Amino acid sequence: MTDPSMPATITLPAGFLLGASTAAYQIEGGASDGGRGPSIWDTFSHTPGRTAGGATGDVAADHYHRVAEDLDLIASLRLDAYRFSISWSRVMPEGEGRVNDTGLAFYSDLVDGLIERGVEPIVTLNHWDLPQALEDRYGGWRGRETAYAFEKYAEVVGAALGDRVRIWSTHNEPWNNSFTGYGHGVFAPGVRSHADALRAAHHLNLSHGLGVQALRRTITRADAQVSVTLNIFRVEAETPADAEAARRFDAVANRVFTGPMLRGAYPDDLIHDTQHLTDWGFVRPGDTEICHQPLDLLGINYYEVMHVRAARDVVDHPTAGTAFPGSEYVELFRPADLEKTAMGWTVEARGIEDHLIALSRDFPGLPLMVMENGAAFADDVSVVDGEQTVEDHERVAYLADHLAATCRARERGADVRGFLVWSLLDNFEWAEGYGPRFGVVRVDYDTLERIPKRSAHWLAQRCATRTLPALDVGAPAL
Ligand code: FCB
Repeated sequence: MTDPSMPATITLPAGFLLGASTAAYQIEGGASDGGRGPSIWDTFSHTPGRTAGGATGDVAADHYHRVAEDLDLIASLRLDAYRFSISWSRVMPEGEGRVNDTGLAFYSDLVDGLIERGVEPIVTLNHWDLPQALEDRYGGWRGRETAYAFEKYAEVVGAALGDRVRIWSTHNEPWNNSFTGYGHGVFAPGVRSHADALRAAHHLNLSHGLGVQALRRTITRADAQVSVTLNIFRVEAETPADAEAARRFDAVANRVFTGPMLRGAYPDDLIHDTQHLTDWGFVRPGDTEICHQPLDLLGINYYEVMHVRAARDVVDHPTAGTAFPGSEYVELFRPADLEKTAMGWTVEARGIEDHLIALSRDFPGLPLMVMENGAAFADDVSVVDGEQTVEDHERVAYLADHLAATCRARERGADVRGFLVWSLLDNFEWAEGYGPRFGVVRVDYDTLERIPKRSAHWLAQRCATRTLPALDVGAPAL
């Protein structure tokens, strides 16, 4: 008989995909190799003062040159799935027109390498590294033309990989792409304008719809799963009196995307709250119908709960800052008593459980997949029996708790199809450079050597045994 006071071992459901995620600009390096054109992140990171310590993605984890080694690493961890993004400017150096066959071949070989090793490839088309040429020509995502260029790019990639890749996402976190990139300006291209952020958000929504249509035209796999990956925030008001602040934040952070993409309209309250910033004239008749394409899957990135209360003063939040219009009414805060990661982000595994359940009720019939979850901690390298190791027990605990919470959400009715750890490798953490380490595999940035951390061994065990034992952090045999 099992002891009811002991947490039970969880068995992963059949078909549930467990794996890891990366993004092109964060790991590839090889920034000028194989005919790649520059992206807005190349320009931004090379602009003094934009990234911590002036870090760039020129070399990053050098994945472009070490792809064979990384494939074997993925295979050694026995991951079910590996999610990566495609560098648009590697495939189309000017963003439109000419296709760079060398760039396309890199991803085609990567897909083959994964399939040969029994790993399911999951492709993201846009993880923020827009070709610089489109920024120069059209103002990037501020320009409607960029949405149509994205459609062509989706067609090229769909035609090249659509015979082998089953799971696709058009965009990763369009919120950061638009509001952090064009509103707050701390991400590329570094523009600070609320009106431009809203404009960019619309063009991302439009391009999503056009991109889904392009993928459906070109993918030949009959079982294709087309998705978008959103960082829909889990918004929690501090008190009932803060409900209005939560509504405002939810409108401009979440429903600005889920409205058009999943319901076919921009919410009235969002239009009302932002009317002093824009007349929304960039939304043309017929646009929201294009945005609203049937999807097979909704990708969710979850890191922390957004605790919200009504602002007493104009607030500059460390993460969201002035990244969203309406921030003058909303204060985001991190409760002092909660554990924090090296990013200062709160650790609340129950948040992902509540979130997945709520999302499955909000969007019934749309299966969910956790495309990113993970944490940065100050990893120490130690040497045991002459081998370097990283005993990252905090990360193991974080991942175990969030995976368990995800499985509980599933037991409680949320149709969650998988869980991908952010990230496979330590990498270029955008404006934060190489300080924060999110990988389950350490990258020594001097030698570019890969050192699987304790969390990589833990993940490998979960993939191999399909179980998640009640965690005894610090136990040697995970
Ligand atoms: C997410 C991004 C990903 C990574 C993690 C830490 O917002 O999608 O690229 O930076 O945060």
